[in-house]
Amino acid sequence: MNRTNPIGIFDSGIGGLTVVKSILRLMPNENIVYFGDTARVPYGSKSNETVIEYSLQAANFLLRKNIKLLVVACNTASAVALKDLKKFLTIPVIGMIEPGAKMAIQESRNGIVGVIGTRATISNRAYANELKKISPRTKVYERACPLFVPLAEEGWLDHKVTEMIAKEYLKELKEKNIDSLILGCTHYPILQDIIQKVIGKNVKLIDSGTPAAHLVEDYLNGRQLRNQSVHQGISEFYVSDVPAKFREIAERFLGRKIIHLHKVELEELTNE
Ligand code: DGL
Repeated sequence: MNRTNPIGIFDSGIGGLTVVKSILRLMPNENIVYFGDTARVPYGSKSNETVIEYSLQAANFLLRKNIKLLVVACNTASAVALKDLKKFLTIPVIGMIEPGAKMAIQESRNGIVGVIGTRATISNRAYANELKKISPRTKVYERACPLFVPLAEEGWLDHKVTEMIAKEYLKELKEKNIDSLILGCTHYPILQDIIQKVIGKNVKLIDSGTPAAHLVEDYLNGRQLRNQSVHQGISEFYVSDVPAKFREIAERFLGRKIIHLHKVELEELTNE
């Protein structure tokens, strides 16, 4: 494996670009290959079997791009398919759950942690189990917030409808005295201003993408795989469908211009 090989990152769609942003902020000289399964998004409402199947297909696609490490930016795929991905891949695989849970435990003073995510992430209790594994006495309160995904894609970051929905979703968590809240979905960091306003300024928001990026850096350093280039890396983006307004939404998520964008045919993913 070569240091200049790219880091592979996949998500069910474009939400994982928030994780790309964290990785590039920390390691701007790394090359990135991103795959967003925009033809089959959302994963958050699909069965575990389907999420595992799609995740393995995404990983195989990225392996063909000679990636040196795989980041499962999708929280749903991390919650449901990480074990299978680790079983089948020989390169390191990093998901969102463990780094997010670790950071929440570090940040929490009272040991009461909230988690929000898609229905699949919450019903699999992925964050709750990880939090309990790290610190068994942690009290965990969870809430699925499925409407946050379309609101983030719509760009309603400061809209009264988003605030109303956030109030409804976060009502019970607010009563539980949580002091940290895991944003357990790729899209939620986009809505963090409204979430912070509604949940209150004393609650620390945990964006799993940030500690995941640090974990990627540690892994690469530990294996002498950090790119040594002094130039900015190349980021390539592959999607299984190019929806209308894709570029606009993607650039909002990433906070920079998207240059190399390609469409992947579904047959390429499913024909092994
Ligand atoms: N990427 C997904 C996640 O982080 C959100 C969108 C979806 O449901 O596929 O859980």
